[in-house]
Amino acid sequence: MIKKIAVIGAGTMGHGIAETFTLYGYSVNLFDVNAEVLEKAKQQIREELSGLVAEDYTSVADADAALARIETVTDMAKAVADRDFVIEAAPEKMELKQQLLKSLDELAPKHAILATNTSSLSFAEMCALLSEDRKKRTMVNHWYNPAHLMPLVELSFFGNMPAEIYEEVAALYASVEKQTAKVLKDVPGLIANRIQQGVAREAFSLIEKGVAEPADIDIALKFGPAFRYATTGQLEVADFGGLDIWCVVGDNLLQAMDNSTQANPMLRKKVSEGKLGLKSGEGFFQYPPEKIAAIRQKFTHRLIHQLKASREYI
Ligand SMILES: NC(=O)c1ccc[n+]([C@@H]2O[C@H](COP(=O)([O-])OP(=O)(O)OC[C@H]3O[C@@H](n4cnc5c(N)ncnc54)[C@H](O)[C@@H]3O)[C@@H](O)[C@H]2O)c1
Repeated sequence: MIKKIAVIGAGTMGHGIAETFTLYGYSVNLFDVNAEVLEKAKQQIREELSGLVAEDYTSVADADAALARIETVTDMAKAVADRDFVIEAAPEKMELKQQLLKSLDELAPKHAILATNTSSLSFAEMCALLSEDRKKRTMVNHWYNPAHLMPLVELSFFGNMPAEIYEEVAALYASVEKQTAKVLKDVPGLIANRIQQGVAREAFSLIEKGVAEPADIDIALKFGPAFRYATTGQLEVADFGGLDIWCVVGDNLLQAMDNSTQANPMLRKKVSEGKLGLKSGEGFFQYPPEKIAAIRQKFTHRLIHQLKASREYI
């Protein structure tokens, strides 16, 4: 049974993964190569836990206890020595991840399960330097950002590991109120990012074609398909509507839709102009510097609200 966890890499994803596990009572060692990053991660976790308390998602006592259970460490051997489960959220570079997994294989106990939060790298290639025994105990665990709020974690079951190990990890995620999706093949983007890119491709294309303004496209999505998607999956939606209808509409519409295989040129142009979205003050919409903090806070509030509501229908 998994009790002790190490999270390797304390950046955007790592700190949120550590925060999630500690909030549900697990002992967590949080490792980074950079001591300053660890300080920043601890501060961010503190602030995010305060946010959860303010939203009545957790209590002050539970947030304090969660903070006390996290140990920040710059010595990898110490970080993983007695751990049952080690998840890495280091930069998305093949060679770095290969070497990192190799070190974790050597340093972690034999029974420990290794996981990678990779978004896009080939799993088989990433495991190239692992011992045969460890390959059977290694998998992709793909979280969503912000990790402490997004319920989905995609888990690989690519044929390299026994079903018992998969079940042990799935049970770990159930114990921290995450929803897991089992992915059977090592395809780029796994499930959710592929679906998301399909939606985004059409949304960007509609703007490029001048069919609607960005605000109206987002309204159509939020109060149309995504309104259902928050509670009901695409395949349920298709079943509820009738597969015969989806067949006819697919034949009529798909040929008129964008099927390009690269990022939209309009998107590329915005990037070249420095319009990167919230972080640069402009993307499809404007973000005055004095409003950015409030916009971020509102986004977090909406996610927590949805997270609480989702407990009713899961
Ligand atoms: N950011 C996202 O939205 C997101 C979502 C899902 C998955 N991911 C994946 O999660 C992983 C981490 O992404 P991120 O956005 O948190 O990156 P990040 O750059 O914010 O954090 C990476 C951290 O790893 C540390 N690091 C660097 N070299 C290291 C090493 N050799 N060993 C251990 N730590 C090291 C860095 O100091 C940094 O703190 C990537 O594989 C990424 O593809 C990211």
